[in-house]
Amino acid sequence: MRLAVVGSGYVGLVAGACFAELGHDVVLVDNDPDKLAALQQGEVPIHEEFLPELFHRHHGKRLSFTDNTVDAVRASQAVFIAVGTPPMHSGEADLSYVESVARDIAGAIGDYKIVVDKSTVPVYTSEWVRKIMLLNGAPHGCFDVASNPEFLREGTAVTDFLYPDRIVIGADSERCIDLLREMYKPLIDGSYYDCPTAIPGPNGCKGPAPIIVTSARSAELIKHASNAFLAMKISFINAVANICEAVGADVEQVREGMGTDARIGRRFLYPGIGYGGSCFPKDVSAFHSVARECGYEFGLLDEVMRINDDQRQRFIRKVRTALWTLKGKHLGVLGLAFKDGTDDIRESPAIAIIQSLLAEGCRVTAYDPAAMDRAAEVLPSSTVKFAQSPYDVAKQTDAVLILTEWQEFKHLDLARMRESLRYPIVIDGRNLFRPEDMEKHGFIYLSIGRPDIVPQEELVKFRRAGQLLGK
Ligand code: UGA
Repeated sequence: MRLAVVGSGYVGLVAGACFAELGHDVVLVDNDPDKLAALQQGEVPIHEEFLPELFHRHHGKRLSFTDNTVDAVRASQAVFIAVGTPPMHSGEADLSYVESVARDIAGAIGDYKIVVDKSTVPVYTSEWVRKIMLLNGAPHGCFDVASNPEFLREGTAVTDFLYPDRIVIGADSERCIDLLREMYKPLIDGSYYDCPTAIPGPNGCKGPAPIIVTSARSAELIKHASNAFLAMKISFINAVANICEAVGADVEQVREGMGTDARIGRRFLYPGIGYGGSCFPKDVSAFHSVARECGYEFGLLDEVMRINDDQRQRFIRKVRTALWTLKGKHLGVLGLAFKDGTDDIRESPAIAIIQSLLAEGCRVTAYDPAAMDRAAEVLPSSTVKFAQSPYDVAKQTDAVLILTEWQEFKHLDLARMRESLRYPIVIDGRNLFRPEDMEKHGFIYLSIGRPDIVPQEELVKFRRAGQLLGK
């Protein structure tokens, strides 16, 4: 099948490359000339596992690039809208890019096509796209509009696409539903998974992918409700972690005890410094606005957002607890990306925490396996330096803060890190280490929702040195 994907951001790029992997001819459309030139030369602009592999496989064969929406639409049976829907001041999603693409598509419709929304959009967007297209000359009966939301996580987006928990097709016409089924056929009938060159699935997962057919409105709500629910799960466990701190319980034990209940589940129940990224903060707020617009006051989401913001402040208070005063302190930071496996720093809690610490007069030396170039664009070079390795971060700093859950940090040589640090203080915003290991290596270790580790000899030494430790 010939497909056009308009917008080559995260969603568009991954979806385009994966559809090519499923055997379709895909043209990706973008109006940013620099980005387009880079894509045409085969450069992959984002850090995403398996994406370079798919690019290499299909670039110039089943995957091409253009800035001409009209030509791309004319040549395709299905057009995916994958442009940005950034938040406005009000919290609502800005749909002006979607509208503008709908206008462009309308002018290029001749024979029957389907127009599929992949961007995260509020309920009724499919209907609006349809109206805009009709207003702009798209002939009646010559097109259908569908919603086919994506559930890709950055860092694992390719495997999320190829090994999905479900494929949601929200459409009101059989013809349109059939075309979308056809498009995903290798995943639905499982034939992709028998392919010798198939991208490996997570934990040996072999599909096939379940398909859920709904109305367009329901599909739009599925996307918003799913992201809001996952964000709620994270805020819930963060709130529980705060209670654990107050009573001296261990949130990891509580999480295990809760997560083994199949109705609750272990995933997305990791406490930390709050969720970030380009999706959860934006989508929770957009869903809140959608609800208000429909006459429902979704107060639960207010609380989800409040807990999330508060989690960063609580972390800064922990740093203060460990170091007493912040002005003039030199802090080592491990992790800048909003999560592991990506170089994306949008709405990263790590960046927000660093900015607050800089405002308090700290200096920072930071390391991240992927996000340092992007972070350098937003952090001041006068007070933030970047290190070549996690161990360099520890050198001569007053404490090490762990702000992203990169799995490689878990395997750090703790003895080596302990030796590099001026003071053996680690404040872990992602609970990457086992407190008993940190204790064995003589660290003062503060984490989220677990009792602080303060070895006796360090306590004595630090009290003598005038540092305030313990509460
Ligand atoms: C999220 C959803 O998980 C995807 O299903 C969805 O498709 C995507 O948004 C989107 O709407 O495009 P993503 O933002 O890439 O994906 O990242 P997540 O893995 O969901 O993590 C979001 C944030 O929550 C990160 O800051 C992460 O560190 C944090 N998190 C996640 C926790 O603090 N605890 C957890 O247990 C899980």
